[in-house]
Amino acid sequence: MKVAIVGATGLVGNVMLKVLEERNFPIDELLLVASERSVGKKVNFKGKDYEVISIPTAIEKKPDIALFSAGGSTSLEWAPKFAEVGTTVIDNSSAWRMDLSKKLVVPEINANQLTKNDKIIANPNCSTIQMVMALAPLHKKYKIKRIVVSTYQSVSGTGVKAVEQMENEMAGVKGEMAYHYPIHKNAIPHCDVFEENGYTKEEMKLVRETQKILDDKTIAVTATAVRIPTAGGHSEAVNVEFENDFDLSEVRQLLSETEGVTVQDNLDVNVYPMPMYANGKDDVFVGRIRRDGSQPNTLNLWVVSDNLRKGAATNTVQIAEYLVKEGLV
Ligand SMILES: NC(=O)c1ccc[n+]([C@@H]2O[C@H](COP(=O)([O-])OP(=O)(O)OC[C@H]3O[C@@H](n4cnc5c(N)ncnc54)[C@H](OP(=O)(O)O)[C@@H]3O)[C@@H](O)[C@H]2O)c1
Repeated sequence: MKVAIVGATGLVGNVMLKVLEERNFPIDELLLVASERSVGKKVNFKGKDYEVISIPTAIEKKPDIALFSAGGSTSLEWAPKFAEVGTTVIDNSSAWRMDLSKKLVVPEINANQLTKNDKIIANPNCSTIQMVMALAPLHKKYKIKRIVVSTYQSVSGTGVKAVEQMENEMAGVKGEMAYHYPIHKNAIPHCDVFEENGYTKEEMKLVRETQKILDDKTIAVTATAVRIPTAGGHSEAVNVEFENDFDLSEVRQLLSETEGVTVQDNLDVNVYPMPMYANGKDDVFVGRIRRDGSQPNTLNLWVVSDNLRKGAATNTVQIAEYLVKEGLV
């Protein structure tokens, strides 16, 4: 298996390398790719230094799989060129997610849609992945009518520059700003750019991608996405109304039995998910599971996950593992 990592010098690319190593993904040849600025730099994988190469050089080598995390415009321009030489691209940017001809995949939910013909596969947005991981089994059982979600998102979701901004501010050092405002000691209700409807693109990703992954356009979703000064993972307060009533102990049971979900919910000993403890882990953690007494058939959840892991790198590598296992590459 010849594998290219496009965006290998970035936050997600770095975690991808870790995840590939941990899961012992079968690699015969590894191509580490970034922008022209990084060509020639060394990046380590499994104790060996690899020289970073440019995208055109990587395409010449016709990799079997390319894992992309280099931003939307890079992906729009280059993913089709990899696909033309027979590479299967799994893309972390938002470039292809809502394209009707591209699959938007969370392996535990819908990897079975994939075929050999899918040459560009989209990895969903980090906030969406963790939410649908918790909601998919509940949707199957009780059918979701409406979701109200508020996010508390880590600075690592914005990339290297945002983590540096927070660290500089914490150290009292003046530096480059990734956000319009200070993030240390702040909460910024502005993730990604604003759309014409007054919502941010991040908020609308939660709406559109959820409907696409759960394959149900009737699910109503409304979202508020907020950046907070954490680095470990994203948190979400999710209020979900179902068509059918549920039993709380059955909800807990269903979530506990879901692959990739860990229930952390024991109020007697203050157990609930937190980003500091989700950091570096692959699972989606769910707690504060309780009935919303203000209207029928409605549930409140607190959902936390490492956005660089299940929200990005781990989900991408899991898609690649599925392709290999099913002989689709
Ligand atoms: N952070 C998250 O939680 C998260 C989650 C899901 C998806 N994503 C998506 O993943 C992508 C990367 O995010 P990140 O957080 O890792 O960002 P990042 O830390 O800023 O890294 C960006 C990477 O892309 C490379 N790159 C930039 N422009 C390029 C170009 N023209 N050609 C080739 N490579 C180029 C950079 O290379 P240089 O070092 O050479 O500049 C770097 O390796 C984005 O599309 C983002 O939306 C991020």
